[in-house]
Amino acid sequence: MDKKSKMQAEKHLTGTLVLSVFTAVLGFFQYGYSLGVINAPQKVIEAHYAHVLGIVPLDRQATNTSGEDGAIPSTIPKAGGSAEGTLAPPEDLAASPHVLTMYWSLSVSVFAIGGMVSSFTVGWIGDRLGRVKAMLVVNVLSIVGNLLMGLAKFGPSHILIIAGRAITGLYCGLSSGLVPMYVSEVSPTALRGALGTLHQLAIVTGILISQVLGLDFLLGNDEMWPLLLGLSGVAALLQFFLLLLCPESPRYLYIKLGKVEEAKKSLKRLRGNCDPMKEIAEMEKEKQEAASEKKVSIGQLFTSSKYRQAVIVALMVQISQQFSGINAIFYYSTNIFERAGVDQPVYATIGVGVVNTVFTVISVFLVEKAGRRSLFLAGLMGMLMSAVAMTVGLALLSQFAWMSYVSMIAIFLFVIFFEVGPGPIPWFIVAELFSQGPRPAAIAIAGFCNWACNFIVGMCFQYIADLCGPYVFVIFAVLLLVFLLFAFLKVPETKGKSFEEIAAVFRRKKLPAKSMTELEELRGGEVA
Ligand code: GLC
Repeated sequence: MDKKSKMQAEKHLTGTLVLSVFTAVLGFFQYGYSLGVINAPQKVIEAHYAHVLGIVPLDRQATNTSGEDGAIPSTIPKAGGSAEGTLAPPEDLAASPHVLTMYWSLSVSVFAIGGMVSSFTVGWIGDRLGRVKAMLVVNVLSIVGNLLMGLAKFGPSHILIIAGRAITGLYCGLSSGLVPMYVSEVSPTALRGALGTLHQLAIVTGILISQVLGLDFLLGNDEMWPLLLGLSGVAALLQFFLLLLCPESPRYLYIKLGKVEEAKKSLKRLRGNCDPMKEIAEMEKEKQEAASEKKVSIGQLFTSSKYRQAVIVALMVQISQQFSGINAIFYYSTNIFERAGVDQPVYATIGVGVVNTVFTVISVFLVEKAGRRSLFLAGLMGMLMSAVAMTVGLALLSQFAWMSYVSMIAIFLFVIFFEVGPGPIPWFIVAELFSQGPRPAAIAIAGFCNWACNFIVGMCFQYIADLCGPYVFVIFAVLLLVFLLFAFLKVPETKGKSFEEIAAVFRRKKLPAKSMTELEELRGGEVA
């Protein structure tokens, strides 16, 4: 950002703008919280499930008195330390302990099914209700979902948790589209890039807070886990009430509804004493552009050869983000650290959260300096090497105790490289790859793809880890290699390029280079 735009940006940073952006990204905070919260208390909640379902967890079976590993004992012990003596195990005890893995994996990953389903409806609901009202209404989902989880001990806990996580997933899927929409629309152009990166920061903060609260002496214990799971309902309530104070997006009011006076009023609140006419003129330009470009449906996006290359890239960056295996770490790191022989796995998990947050902040500056393509490639390469190191550490643990440090450092590096590029970039690059007409459809399919892959990792990782033991990250290493090759060959640099030039890259035609200032103007001043 040059001196002039810096001064402009400072002038624009009003209390109302800060409040509006903070309120909106509370949605992403909840997304991060729900992602991370399921990690630390896995053992305690599994023990409770086992009790409710009348199953002995696998690791307890290994030491059970019936002698046979993996067999269901003839007598069912009460779940370890659970105070819930009132929940009698069901009569039918034929259930295999694998049912427990199934229920747990489902509890983890059903969240992503919710996200997957609702991410498709973002454009529709955002346009129909307006951005603020849409965020307000969808909060009800979060409150209901969190209540179900908070009350899980009073009923069949596995069902209540699965239902609660599915409903919060619905909320997060909607939020992951509505929030960036609102934030980009209320931000002044000089601040749009910086404010946009707050999404990933809100996610990682949510993950970190859920990890800290998940410590067993805080909320990750047998007594308090329902409160731990349901606590992001507080953020939902806070968001609900704060939204009542937030102005509607002036772009929505002007471009979608044609309400000039209301748009001016909203701009005045967001920008303080600045003259709203300059931005109104910009919006008018945007309105005309939007009118001149036909809206593209999801079907057309897939069938038209014009968009094919861009669609493939948009989907592949989402697939790379999720199948890199990052959420295997965020959902299951306590378990992975335990397998890696780390003494205090929960603290190591918190360490991951801290490193993740710190490097997200660093990446905010990196993204402004280096190109998206180079950061994406560097990140994937680093993750690939970390996955190999992690595998070596896990495989040789039985021979060298110090290998646990190798695995631990490898996990930290894995997360650091993720935040360098493959973490934040997919969230905003899709908008850059498409112009006004196809953009909403592209964002919907990219969101769906991201959530679908998130679901697959959450659902399958535990099974594959049980099957492959120390070699589980070999799968991610191979996938990372494929993504690296793909990105090297196909992902274009979008930094500093106009939409016109990006489209030309996909058509393999070169347009004459434009000066940065000209490009920034084309972009509406956003530092790409
Ligand atoms: C990205 C991913 C999300 C992941 C997070 C970790 O936001 O979309 O799935 O958990 O990064 O920082």
